[in-house]
Amino acid sequence: MANATAFAHTNIALIKYWGKRDGIRAGLNLPAVGSLSMTLDKFGTETTVTLLDAATNDALPSISARIQIDGTPADEKEAARVAAFVDSIRQMSPDSRREQAYQVVSYNHVPKAAGLASSASAFAALALASVSAFGVSLSPTELANLARMGSGSAARSIAGGFVRLDAGLLDDGSDCVTSSVAVHPSLDLHLVVAQVQSGPKEIGSTTAMQHTRNTSPFYDAWVDTHLADLDRATQALQNGDFTVLGETMEYNTLKMHATLLTAQPGSWYWTPTTLALMNAVRQLRKTGVAAYFTMDAGPHVKVLCHSVDAPHIVQALRAVEGVRSVDAVGVGGPAALRATLR
Ligand code: PMV
Repeated sequence: MANATAFAHTNIALIKYWGKRDGIRAGLNLPAVGSLSMTLDKFGTETTVTLLDAATNDALPSISARIQIDGTPADEKEAARVAAFVDSIRQMSPDSRREQAYQVVSYNHVPKAAGLASSASAFAALALASVSAFGVSLSPTELANLARMGSGSAARSIAGGFVRLDAGLLDDGSDCVTSSVAVHPSLDLHLVVAQVQSGPKEIGSTTAMQHTRNTSPFYDAWVDTHLADLDRATQALQNGDFTVLGETMEYNTLKMHATLLTAQPGSWYWTPTTLALMNAVRQLRKTGVAAYFTMDAGPHVKVLCHSVDAPHIVQALRAVEGVRSVDAVGVGGPAALRATLR
């Protein structure tokens, strides 16, 4: 038996991906808009792909038994999604591993399916562990493209640091690529992650973004105005202009959520605590603390700030009713292999 273990950090989009391109290449999972993210040092996913000999494989009762997430067999839907992804990588193997059975064991160091982007680190770690286990050699760009086919945001968890994903225009997706953004040395950024008490989310991001696209009159405006946000935020990061970065980030997340609110029927991921946290951040700003919020497909609030302000912001947000935990998180590195035993 051979195995490969990879760890990928999660990432949070400062400028959001929300909406897919359609057409004949739907399998490529091409985004309608680009995105810009910060990789988080504390949160991530560790995944081991083990190639099984025939006897071990025969002893496993079902596909779910071969896909374990956080110590338990994955449910059928989840297992099918993971297996389809790994199968597509297995087909690329240069040798007899193309036929080989496998097991996937994954641990999330982040709450699963609650809007903290665990799918980003999950599919990045799975892509890296799978290519290693099946002996597929890919460039970092190819690896990021592969991760994107598992989950749109996963492409941004390969490189580490600040990553821009351009949507591109070509049908074959060859210009939908990630690039690292060099952050201005004056910026020492942290993200304060306030987790709100909640269960698993009711609508997954893929369903929600398709519904928005199909029914919200604001969706076209979201797409049309998005590149300006992406360019402004990228330049602000490079130039060290924290105010422009923060303002653009907040504006972009509110626009994203506005498309979901105005879908038919409208929907939202926020709870009263989400709104209380947004108010608390605006209140902090009134007292001179540079802090800006962003929310994804979940109720949690992530606050971009200078590292020196992080302890004060953590304390202020812990006082908000309904908050489960608050962590200050720095910038994380690239996805990496932990061990490859042959
Ligand atoms: O990677 P997905 O398909 O779960 O989509 C992620 C969408 C957002 O988290 C809302 C935004 C983003 O760019 O990460």
